[in-house]
Amino acid sequence: MRFESMPMLGVGPLLMRVELVEVGVHGFLVRGSISVIGSRSSREIPRAAGKCARFGMTPGVGRGVQDNPLTSSGAQLRPQNRGYNNPFASFRSFPAMERATQYELQLARRMSRLGTETAFEVLNKARVLERQGKSIIHLEIGEPDFDTPANVVEAGVDALRKGWTHYGPSAGLPELRQSLAEYVSRTRGVKVTSDEVVVVPGGKPIIFFTILSLIDEGDEVIYPNPGFPIYESMIRYVGGRAVPVRLREECDFSLDVSELTALISDRTRLIILNSPQNPTGGVLSRRDIEQIAKVIGDRNIMVLSDEIYSRLLFDGAEHFSIMSVPGMQERTILLDGFSKTYAMTGWRMGYGVMRADLATHMTRLMTNSNSCTASFTQVAGIEAIKGDQKSVDHMRDEFQRRRDMVVAGLNKIKGFSCRMPKGAFYVFPNITQTGWKSKPLADALLEQAGVAALSGTSFGEFGEGYLRFSVANSLENLHQALERVDQWTKKMSNPAPGN
Ligand SMILES: Cc1ncc(COP(=O)(O)O)c(C=O)c1O
Repeated sequence: MRFESMPMLGVGPLLMRVELVEVGVHGFLVRGSISVIGSRSSREIPRAAGKCARFGMTPGVGRGVQDNPLTSSGAQLRPQNRGYNNPFASFRSFPAMERATQYELQLARRMSRLGTETAFEVLNKARVLERQGKSIIHLEIGEPDFDTPANVVEAGVDALRKGWTHYGPSAGLPELRQSLAEYVSRTRGVKVTSDEVVVVPGGKPIIFFTILSLIDEGDEVIYPNPGFPIYESMIRYVGGRAVPVRLREECDFSLDVSELTALISDRTRLIILNSPQNPTGGVLSRRDIEQIAKVIGDRNIMVLSDEIYSRLLFDGAEHFSIMSVPGMQERTILLDGFSKTYAMTGWRMGYGVMRADLATHMTRLMTNSNSCTASFTQVAGIEAIKGDQKSVDHMRDEFQRRRDMVVAGLNKIKGFSCRMPKGAFYVFPNITQTGWKSKPLADALLEQAGVAALSGTSFGEFGEGYLRFSVANSLENLHQALERVDQWTKKMSNPAPGN
């Protein structure tokens, strides 16, 4: 649509001239200019200039029309929709002639690339259903159903009473960093010093900070898919290229090293490993990890090794970190934390272990974002890491018992087949034989069977054909969930319309 006229637009006390040369199909300005031609007081002019600048327009004041450089320079403005998920949003434009949209939220373009973690959305949906009186068994969220061990709670409460309620050093309390350095040295067989440890609020900030500090626009990052969704989200957010390496069921959701090798390019800056793995429960063998280190060789590639489930291994398996491979320590950022091991998800505490020079940069990111991790939480963390570890063993044994029961139960349900995960507290059954796609099946199980699970696609495109159930619930509830899924699949033999 083309306009020749020049409508006037009153914005508060301002009089503006809007020259619409062309308007896109959705009514948004494609080409044109806007200028302030008058106001009741001269003080309004600078304000008008500010408003125009927000819309990406150059204000012209007084007589005559000053062209918007974005349009008059001949640059092509593409139609932009109101949401921030517009891949064509290369310039800011604004919905013409709608007063309300003068105050439209102008998000930075990078926000359109930020993903999310679906578990929280499904949890919210499940809570709404519960408020409506439905009974829901929660197998969606990835957190231990156990309480934080009593000795750790006591240490935290005591710390609060003793006044550990102030800012602390950005990199973490020296005593905790020292304890963690000793713990990682012992468990990974490497020499770690406290200046190589950065304590942060949860494991997630280490993912965020690693990617922020190492990845420039266009840099490639290889990450597991299906995998923890925050990896892909953060890679895209900073403008990196997300390169998924597929985890295959036939390899027990380990990683095919030859596939990984084929994905490495001159632009690869970072490889993300996660073992034991969320969502599949897959574990990388020592042999695979050594091979990956060999493939990396002397390329200048860093590794983010997410080992947050390192204490949740079953059947006597032992954890092996790529940090332990000779030559890899200075190229590894090890992520670990307290959320899963000590059932401390709400305390918000995790840590990264990395070369000291990188640690100073991560610390700067901490100073800029959080200042520090809560001080009393860190005091509790010292007790967690140095105190009695019986509760960790107890939780692990309990998860193993539940895993065995759930895998056996799922394998009896028509259309489901489930491998035995080797670690973490999830099971990842293949549901392709049900005839359903993952997302509609997860939705139907929530709404009709009262079982909250996650679609495999919440963990990336290669999660299609799978569901994730957390076994962090009581044996009784897990039994009931299996019963509900079984009954539901018996009734619902045909896929839903549009599935
Ligand atoms: C693989 C993986 N890494 C990191 C995290 C983040 O843990 P936190 O809750 O400590 O931030 C999670 C949480 O679910 C996870 O599954």
